[in-house]
Amino acid sequence: MRFGHPRRHFLRTDSTNRRARELAEGGAPSGTVVTAEEQTAGRGRRGRSWTAPAGKALLYSGILRPLDQRHRLLPLAVPLAVSDAVEALGPARAQVKWPNDVWIEGRKVAGVLIEARPPRWAVIGVGLNVSIADEEFPPDLRWPATSVGHGATVDAALAELDDRLGEWVDAPPDRVLAAYRERDALRGRGVAWEGGPAGSETGRGIAAGIDESGNLVVEQESGRRLALGAGEVHRRLG
Ligand code: BTN
Repeated sequence: MRFGHPRRHFLRTDSTNRRARELAEGGAPSGTVVTAEEQTAGRGRRGRSWTAPAGKALLYSGILRPLDQRHRLLPLAVPLAVSDAVEALGPARAQVKWPNDVWIEGRKVAGVLIEARPPRWAVIGVGLNVSIADEEFPPDLRWPATSVGHGATVDAALAELDDRLGEWVDAPPDRVLAAYRERDALRGRGVAWEGGPAGSETGRGIAAGIDESGNLVVEQESGRRLALGAGEVHRRLG
């Protein structure tokens, strides 16, 4: 699988995911990539927005089609691709905060938003902070944010991500799980969650790794283990 051909680049658009979804609906081939210098309505997970100063982040949406059983761990495979790209661009070790945030040095450097119409297509949206200075991040971010830095460029980030995504989207599930477990930033840490299996639960516990389906396993104080397949998980400090 190769990403980046064809590619549509916008100086300014509302959301590259939105553009890519339209292209996917119109029959654009697998591997099509939409990028932008700047987004006016960038979308984040769980209905949040995603902002970045123009030209300082890779704003990327790739089309993958068709979707089948091979792609069942796509939400885990994508942050692995982003992690490899981040490590090729700078010296920091990348970790993944379940399900698909990429962190370096305890701060979020990239976010992933996958929007899909199975079995027809998925749009893999990645926002990767490349050269945003600390003072350019909005003060009200939920997570402490950072950039790759070290002179990395958006063009270099694009080339890396095209290559790494191509490798990871078709990787066998056992390879994805093994690599993800190596990069799991939450394992052994205290976590709190909202959402949970029943949709409206909250809870606290210790993250105990990722199961075969890509759920986050958490152990509650009672010793009871839960598999979280959706929702929001926070790392507890202390
Ligand atoms: C998150 O962490 O909440 C996910 C953020 C994903 C942002 C990227 S930027 C490129 C693509 N287009 C969008 O509108 N969103 C994704």
